[in-house]
Amino acid sequence: MRRLVLIAILLVGVPSFTAGQELRLPNKEGSVKFAIIGDSGEPGTGQRAVAAQMAAWRGRFPFGFILMNGDNLYGTERPTDYENKFARPYKALIDGGAKFYAALGNHDDAAQVNYKLFNMGGAKYYTFKPKDGVRFFAIDSNYVDDKQLEWLDKELAASGSDWKIAFFHHPLYSSGATHGSADLQRDLLEPTLLKRGVNVVFTGHEHFYERIKPQKGVAYFIIGSSAKIRKGDLQKSALTAYGNDSEYAFMLAEIVGDELYFQTISSRGVTLDAGSIKRAGDVQPNTGVTTQPVVPQTKPSPVQPGPAQPAKPAPSKPAQPGPAKPAPGPATAK
Ligand SMILES: [Fe+2]
Repeated sequence: MRRLVLIAILLVGVPSFTAGQELRLPNKEGSVKFAIIGDSGEPGTGQRAVAAQMAAWRGRFPFGFILMNGDNLYGTERPTDYENKFARPYKALIDGGAKFYAALGNHDDAAQVNYKLFNMGGAKYYTFKPKDGVRFFAIDSNYVDDKQLEWLDKELAASGSDWKIAFFHHPLYSSGATHGSADLQRDLLEPTLLKRGVNVVFTGHEHFYERIKPQKGVAYFIIGSSAKIRKGDLQKSALTAYGNDSEYAFMLAEIVGDELYFQTISSRGVTLDAGSIKRAGDVQPNTGVTTQPVVPQTKPSPVQPGPAQPAKPAPSKPAQPGPAKPAPGPATAK
């Protein structure tokens, strides 16, 4: 029995916090705190280790909900699969009251929209507002038809000056060798994202982490390494602000006023990346005015996981976003 316990510990790891694992978020009372995972539906050591880290970090950073960027269940999707590939590995988070909000990936059956714990309300695309001033948009990037685009345009417009945060599966910008930028989805979605002032986009599909340099004023993250990793697949390019394709990972995020702080953490509990995004303008909920474009800025992130820096307030002078750069190399729609 003791041997079994030891094996389980070795496989999963016991999250503990040591130097190099400091929380780099403000952790302010009343802020919007959330986590993000992607391509998470593969049972195994990576998924278990990430889930254990998330539960442990939630003890000191009480995030209320978790975005799922798609590929929520790989393979068969029988009731037992929902249990084995989701409910059991994330049991501690679910039991602790964290809510999951899923977007559909290319491996996901549309029937997931009716799974209670994914909180999709029976729809392949939907929006929710956890708090005044912040609104999330789950998009189905598998099928971006006119109907969905009309819905997105209308809902974004109606969200006024809220933070507008979109999450979906296919990355509009990516340096991945396997997939790369999803050109088709970019052509379809980007005009609406820009027209309506979306600030931040979280995607998956690639089994790595990549923080993209701001594109046309929008901050993009790929986090698709929460249960699978594809080592060597990230071909760092002109798009890459930071990337990691060797560690299972998840993200934590916090919105305080006009600042969104993020921290990307490995399944070993090591911080891979951290920084903040400042959007222009004040948060003025319910004014019916579209937000100004986000002005991203980033605090230094370690090139390699290294000693943690205590979280500091972001500098007040935001960096100017550069001109959009086209995706390098042959990027084809997936
Ligand atoms: Fe995928």
